[in-house]
Amino acid sequence: MNKADVLLGLQWGDEGKGKIVDVLTPSYDIIARFQGGPNAGHTLEFNGIKHVLHTIPSGIFHPTAINIVGNGVVIDPVIFKKEIDALASLGVDVSAKLLISKRAHLILPTHRLIDAASEAAKGKNKIGSTLKGIGPTYMDKTGRNGLRIGDIETNEFKEKYNTLVEKHKQLLSFYNFDYNLSELEPTWFEAIESLKKLQFVDTEHYLNTAMQNGKKVLAEGAQGSLLDVDFGSYPFVTSSNTICAGACNGLGIAPNKIGNVIGIFKAYCTRVGSGPFPTELENETGEKIRQIGREFGSTTGRPRRTGWLDIPALKYAIMVNGVTELMMMKADILSDFNTIEVCTHYNHNGKVIDYLPYNIDAKYLTPITTPLKGWNVDLTQMDSKAKLPKELLEYVSYIEKAVNTPISIVSVGPDRSQTIRMK
Ligand code: GDP
Ligand code: IMO
Ligand code: MG
Repeated sequence: MNKADVLLGLQWGDEGKGKIVDVLTPSYDIIARFQGGPNAGHTLEFNGIKHVLHTIPSGIFHPTAINIVGNGVVIDPVIFKKEIDALASLGVDVSAKLLISKRAHLILPTHRLIDAASEAAKGKNKIGSTLKGIGPTYMDKTGRNGLRIGDIETNEFKEKYNTLVEKHKQLLSFYNFDYNLSELEPTWFEAIESLKKLQFVDTEHYLNTAMQNGKKVLAEGAQGSLLDVDFGSYPFVTSSNTICAGACNGLGIAPNKIGNVIGIFKAYCTRVGSGPFPTELENETGEKIRQIGREFGSTTGRPRRTGWLDIPALKYAIMVNGVTELMMMKADILSDFNTIEVCTHYNHNGKVIDYLPYNIDAKYLTPITTPLKGWNVDLTQMDSKAKLPKELLEYVSYIEKAVNTPISIVSVGPDRSQTIRMK
């Protein structure tokens, strides 16, 4: 029986997961998203096309690979339909190669309203949610109130929908929040009709049978490990398990059937939304990284916060995921820096530590950085390890040694072709 490989983000999301899944898809038969929902924005670039996917796995442009939306994912039918339409306009017909788990939960219009109402009520303490209804939908899942894809095919669907919406209306009445649900519902039900044209499947059976038959599976994560609901910077996190274990829960693949765990990280750090960020640069250097790196959210367009690479945080993410192989993204963005800082330790309540502690709030923790020499050459046209500058190879070796894990790919641009294999 083949094992499934897992690919996930090791920072606060937007590491470049979409690009790498697209690059790796030719080596796999099945790409399966295991958690999150349309809060994700995974960007793919090839042949002059730039495309952002939110719920649909990043293997969808491959002519034959099967793409699975797993049970751990939450689906907004309206956004899902838009994604399918956008793919159709590029000539991609998903009907034969996109399967949806019957156990995946639906995001209702009222989930989005509750997300917005809850954020507004939190004021300056808001999470900075993408307002896609992610938190409220997962709350209904664990609260055992949720609606699932499999419910769409039952006669009780509308009744279940109404019952849940009544609950939501009561909840909304606690907030001082104006809304007009009747404006949102027709589009949602239309989108449900379009969803029905797709294949609803018991994806846990499908995946395990495929692996039994020697098929190769890549599980695609969304968000990043530092946004994990258990291990991230709670409460400034998303509402799912973004770590490797989430692939087991979110697809029905047993832990002993997980093979390689591929951890994606940027050569620096970014974060969008609120919450602690130890290496954040709220200065010109941070602005320079944001501008050169075009660090603006793929889903919300918000400016991303930027900072230097955080090695204790990276080690933590590698530990909780069991990462076997790393891929370093956006190395090209650091080409303009003579010196690149990396955080090696923290000063935590007056003590120097080399691990990520429980509380990473700036009140308790400041980063200790070390300067490394920059490479100062354009990397974007480079196509082999042999062409990479010595200082970049030293940066790679420094990180590999610090985190005791090999880096197998260095990415030097957003395009599929700008990908350098290190082995
Ligand atoms: P994801 O959510 O992890 O899939 O990442 P996003 O797509 O949200 O954000 C990554 C951004 O960086 C996208 O705009 C990508 O096109 C871009 N990108 C990915 N890899 C590289 C790279 O190596 N260099 C540059 N310059 N851009 C990259
Ligand atoms: P991808 O898959 C970056 C952040 C939001 C917010 C917090 C909670 O593209 O890497 P939510 O809408 O989930 O309730 O928001 O998590 N966030 C992301 N940040 N990349 C993402 O996904 C994100 N998905 C959610 O900005 O801080
Ligand atoms: Mg993204």
